[in-house]
Formats: sequence, structure tokens, C-alpha cells
Amino acid sequence: MKSSLLLSLLSLAGALVEAGPVHTPKVYIRNGTVSGRYSPEWHQDFFLGVPYAEPPTGNNRFRPPQHIKTKRNFEAKERGKFCWGYRGDQWQYPQSEDCLTLNVIRPAGISPHRKLPVAIFIHGGGFTIGSAHDPRYNMTFLVDQSVKEGTPIIGIGINYRLGGLGWIASRQVAGTKNLNLGLKDQRVAMQWVQENIRAFGGDPQKVTLFGASAGALSIGLHQLAYNGRDDKLFSQVMMISGSPIFFRPSPFPETFQANYDYLITQTGCLDATDSLQCLREVPIEQLNAAINTTQGQFTTAVVDGEFVAGIPSQNLKHGRFVKVPAIVASSTDEGAGYARMVQRYDTDAQVRGYVEGYTQYKPHMIDRLMELYPPSISIPDPANFTQPDQGSVLFGAQYHRLAAILGDIWFIAGKRYYARQLAAQNVPVWSVRTRVVPNGYADWVGSVHSTPLPFMFYNLNTTSFDIGAGDVKVVPDPMGGPNALAFKELANFGSRSLVRFFARGDPAAGRKPWDVNWVKYKHGSGKNQIVWDIGPGGVYVEKDTFREEGIQHMMDYFLQSAF
Ligand SMILES: *[C@@H]1O[C@H](CO)[C@@H](O)[C@H](O)[C@H]1NC(C)=O
Ligand SMILES: *[C@@H]1O[C@H](CO)[C@@H](O)[C@H](O)[C@H]1NC(C)=O
Ligand SMILES: *[C@@H]1O[C@H](CO)[C@@H](O)[C@H](O)[C@H]1NC(C)=O
Ligand SMILES: *[C@@H]1O[C@H](CO)[C@@H](O)[C@H](O)[C@H]1NC(C)=O
Ligand SMILES: *[C@@H]1O[C@H](CO)[C@@H](O)[C@H](O)[C@H]1NC(C)=O
Repeated sequence: MKSSLLLSLLSLAGALVEAGPVHTPKVYIRNGTVSGRYSPEWHQDFFLGVPYAEPPTGNNRFRPPQHIKTKRNFEAKERGKFCWGYRGDQWQYPQSEDCLTLNVIRPAGISPHRKLPVAIFIHGGGFTIGSAHDPRYNMTFLVDQSVKEGTPIIGIGINYRLGGLGWIASRQVAGTKNLNLGLKDQRVAMQWVQENIRAFGGDPQKVTLFGASAGALSIGLHQLAYNGRDDKLFSQVMMISGSPIFFRPSPFPETFQANYDYLITQTGCLDATDSLQCLREVPIEQLNAAINTTQGQFTTAVVDGEFVAGIPSQNLKHGRFVKVPAIVASSTDEGAGYARMVQRYDTDAQVRGYVEGYTQYKPHMIDRLMELYPPSISIPDPANFTQPDQGSVLFGAQYHRLAAILGDIWFIAGKRYYARQLAAQNVPVWSVRTRVVPNGYADWVGSVHSTPLPFMFYNLNTTSFDIGAGDVKVVPDPMGGPNALAFKELANFGSRSLVRFFARGDPAAGRKPWDVNWVKYKHGSGKNQIVWDIGPGGVYVEKDTFREEGIQHMMDYFLQSAF
């Protein structure tokens, strides 16, 4: 009786919503009113393109983000513009310098007194492309999964400045507070969440940062920021294909001196007394034309002695980081997309030359590395190839060897180092390796960079992957094909594990009896890493010790040198 009354009330409510297109979710925040959009299809409220800072334009260009100065009402019904980006998959979207916005996606109809867990996604794209508005990072599915799991969450995606506009660095910029602007954008967005998320029904004390690639490195740097000062901006972190360890020896402002000099030469600012001020006055089209060249690129954060206070591997080792529960994840064949980007690699000397230039390892370090990664090492594992290997044909006889080296240096050694440091310091940490090859990818291409994402976002309709260096492989239906059902099951497990982590601080809490248990990362022997796969093996746990000697060699070098 009661339930049928409830049902008819519910359908009445449904009818009312359908009848009038008037349901506009409205939230009152410090900066005014935010009017979002109700999605009847998902029963969610979308607040899209909400500004979290003053536009970084005009005299605000090349300065840290400024808090919004005047109260106003925001229409947040359509997704905002992407920040200007400087590689391939950015150019199909509307872009603007005025781009410091975020999206808030929440289940509709929640009581204003609820305090839901919050997950903030920081996108990747090598600090030069990407946006929270990219449909690959559509938060709807994950929020929907959280409702089905019985622990609804609020999902947030943030934009930050890219390329030269966000990461300009040089001798001249050093000491001006204008370094690492992209990181400062992200941090102001986190402060915005602290001050405003309660108005959306969120809990500012239960905020997880999660991000991929450059977004993962960013999160790592927030965890280490100001030598690990805890500003209470987040209570958990998750890094996918990235860690606080730079993808190379730690860069400093002067690392980008040549790029800066090129920029000021191209824009007529070479002789200005204050070249940075001069750059603020250059029309954006002219500035973009200069940034948008090989010489004009700024591609990472730098050690500024303050925000990025020190060398990340040393900070981790000495406990100078915010000690919160963490998940680190990578795909199995991280380096496979990247190794194809430069030239062919047929000979020992070619591989050696690349590694030498990239790592600045001393000669004896390289000798040892070449021994530990002999030509017989191949990423992906050729035992699994069912088609002829085109990798060696197209990219060189030693392509698969370089893929192993690059993937380990850039992603996997940093992840293992991070997990081991946290475990040694008794900070809860879990580790994931995904080994799924999406539909439409040949075996020899493998489980490349960024493949974990659709399994985490439960985005079964994703369109493409950035497999490295702007080389976007667009396949028609990466989550479809003969394995579609298995992909869906894995995405269900993956996304719900994330939800459990966001909501309960533990990806295994409340798991289904038939789900594989997540084991915490620990030192010493024993299985400590969860592998996400489909097929007969499915999801399982393993010891995180593959290529142990080679990766240990890299981890030793992190400390000796300055990764
Ligand atoms: C706008 O919001 C930010 C972040 O919550 C806050 O710091 C700032 O003071 C607000 N500005 C106004 C004019 O209310
Ligand atoms: C996410 O994608 C679904 C399916 O295309 C769409 O219905 C939904 O509106 C999208 N969500 C957002 C926040 O754009
Ligand atoms: C960069 O150059 C490409 C190729 O010429 C062009 O399509 C794109 O619009 C340019 N981007 C910017 C931000 O100038
Ligand atoms: C790939 O090869 C490994 C052994 O090298 C094997 O354990 C695994 O099952 C294979 N995976 C697939 C998908 O065939
Ligand atoms: C998937 O994408 C297609 C085309 O982009 C769209 O027609 C379809 O509704 C989407 N399906 C889901 C479940 O999002």
C-alpha cells in the first residue's frame, strides 16, 4: 500500500519534471547564484563551465589566478571553452584564454543537508592539451555508478591553463610568483571546492583528487607542495599513469630558457625592460602563433623552491608530503605509444642515443641500463601476439625494447617508487596495473597509456585514446567489439572500486563477495598489486616485481640524480 502510493507519487514527480522544462537546479555560493541544468535522462544536475577565478586575461595573463571579485549570477548550463592547447586533439573544440572553469555533476534530488563525497578529476595531456569538458572525462557515468552502489558522490572536473600560458618559465620568470601557473589554477579550484561545495550538498572534508598522466603528476605535486604542508584541500589521492616523480630529471625555470627567449624574440619583447609584462600586452593570436611551435612549447611544472619546493623523489623519501590514502595505477604497456614518436630505432646506438639525451644518465648508468634491458625485452609481450608484429616493421627492430625503457622511466618506476615509499611510511596505498587491449588495437600495440580511463569512468562509449605525443588513435568503438561484455564487466568493477575509495577510503570496502580483493601495497614478498584484465584470468593479484632489476636501477637513480 505504502509503496504503491510512493510509486504513484514518484511517477507524478516524473511527469511534472517532464511536463515543464523549467526544473533549473540553483545553488547559492559565495560568488552569487549558479543556475545549472537538470538531466532527466540521468536524473542528475549539471553545473557546467562554472568560473572559479577571474579570467586570466589582460593584465592577469601570466599571473596566479585571482579570486572572483564581484558577485554575479552564473548560467552554468552549457560546457565552457577549453583552455588554449597546442597539440592535435584540442583543435576540434572551442578554446579561449578565459577558461578557468569547472563542472559539477551531482545526483539530482539530494537533500541540501547531505554531505556527499567529492571527486575532483584533473585531466592529462602533457600540460599542453586537454580539458574537463572533453567527453572522454564525462562524469555522468561515474556519478550514476555511485548512486547504484548506494554511496552517491559529486563529480568535479577542472580546467587549468596549458602550454606557455600555464607553464611559462625562465630566469626572468623565476622569483616573480608566476611560475607553475597551471598548478596554482588547480589549487584555487580546490579552494573553491572547500568554500563552496557544501552549497551543492558535498562534504569539503571528503575530497579525492584523481587524475591521469600530467594530471597525475599534478596531483603528486599537490601532495608534496610546500614540502608537504597540509592545507586540508583533499583527503585522498589517486594517480593514473603518473606520480609525483617528473618524467625526466627535475626541470628548473632555466630549463626552458631557450623557449622563453624564442617567445620574446617572436613577439617583439626581446628588448623590453620587463619582458613578461610585454608578453601580457601581445595580442593572443600573435602569442599563440609563437607558443604553437616546437621551440615555443612549455611542457611541465618546474622546481620553484616554493610550491614545488624540492626534488620529488627526495621529498617522498624523507616524508615531506601530505600523508593520505592513495591509489596508483598504470597500464601494462605505457611506453608503447610513445616509442613510436621520434624516429626509427633499429640499432643499439639509436636506443642508447635516445636514452642518453633524455635521461642525462652518466655513461656507466646507461651501460648498466642497456644490460638490464637487452634487445630481447619487448613491450608488449610478444607471447601474446596473434597478428604479425607491425611495430618492428614500422618503427624499427628495437622499437619494442625502447617502449619498455621509456614506459618504465616515465611512468612505471615512478609509480613503484611512490608505492614503496608510502608503504614503508605506513601510509595506505593500493596499486593497479591494467592490461586490457581496447577493441580495434592490434596486440602489438598493446595496453597503452590512458587505456585505464574508460574503465574508471565507466565510459563505455568513449571515442579515442591519446596514446602519446599527440598521436591520437581514433578507433570507432574502443569499448565495443567481441569483448564488449567483458569490458563492461571490468568497467563496472573498476568504477565501483573508485566509488568505494571516494566514499569509504578503501577500494575494497563493501565489495561484492565474488570480486577480487584489493590488497594493500606492502614491502617484502607477497602479492601487492591488482591486475585489471578480461578473459579467463580476469582480475587477479600479483607481486609488483616485474623487470625488478631494471626498475630498481631507475629508482636508485631517482635519488642519486634529481628525478
Ligand atoms: C568568490 O569565491 C571565492 C572562493 O570561494 C572567494 O574566495 C571570494 O572571496 C569570493 N568573492 C566574492 C566577491 O564573494
Ligand atoms: C555524458 O554522456 C551522456 C551520453 O552521451 C550524456 O547523456 C550526458 O549528458 C553526458 N554528461 C555530461 C555531463 O555532459
Ligand atoms: C596550432 O597550429 C595548428 C596547425 O597549424 C592549428 O591547427 C592550430 O589552430 C594552432 N593552434 C593555436 C592555439 O594557435
Ligand atoms: C600473455 O602472455 C602471458 C605470458 O607471457 C600469459 O600469462 C597471458 O595469459 C597472455 N595473455 C593473453 C591475453 O593472451
Ligand atoms: C554513444 O555515442 C553515440 C554517438 O556518439 C550516441 O548516439 C549514443 O547515444 C551513445 N550511447 C551512450 C550510452 O552514451
